[in-house]
Amino acid sequence: MKSIVILISGRGSNMEAIVRAALPGVRIAAVISNRPDAAGLNFAAAHGIACAVVDHKQFGERAAFDAALAEAIDAHRPDLVVLAGFMRVLTDDFVRHYAGRLINIHPSLLPAFPGLHTHRRALEAGVRVHGATVHFVTPTLDCGPIVVQAVVPVQPGDDEASLAARVLDHEHRIYPQAVRWFAEGRLALGADGRVQVSGESPAPSGWTVPPLEC
Ligand code: GAR
Repeated sequence: MKSIVILISGRGSNMEAIVRAALPGVRIAAVISNRPDAAGLNFAAAHGIACAVVDHKQFGERAAFDAALAEAIDAHRPDLVVLAGFMRVLTDDFVRHYAGRLINIHPSLLPAFPGLHTHRRALEAGVRVHGATVHFVTPTLDCGPIVVQAVVPVQPGDDEASLAARVLDHEHRIYPQAVRWFAEGRLALGADGRVQVSGESPAPSGWTVPPLEC
């Protein structure tokens, strides 16, 4: 049984998708938020999951917040820490402490569009395909070995909200998938810095590339 701790900052729909997936061999030890009013805490508590808040506003220094956060996480001795819409920049020390057992989901096809407002920026750039990425976390923001990506074609007439909604739908498929692979021991980091997924094509069912029109 693999124990995971999920970190959220708000809505928590990715956390909810992982909980609802009821992954075999996965125990969700806790959900921790840096915001006391994060809506996702209500869902987690209603599902009998231990919840905690480490409010970043109570800490003057980023390092002090990260140390308190690590203490709250480590109390649960997790095998994996899952960032699910956790909107804090983490210190290098924190990231190094969880090397190889800290994953994040980001709403773009990394390395394109790290940071905020990814859907707006994708539309402004005129990309034909957008999507989401699950990756191992390294000290550089929204960077690190890629576990799985979902491709979402941009439709004519898309606005930020419609594109975000379709990407989010794919996030909810690939994040439980990535956690399942981790729990099954199928993720390995190669010497080339890339993630290898054993035993299955890493392309998820939501993988949608439009056919070429010649
Ligand atoms: C998700 O779209 C996630 O990819 C994004 O925040 C949203 C959280 O939604 N994360 C990032 O932008 C991290 N760089 P949720 O709280 O409903 O899961």
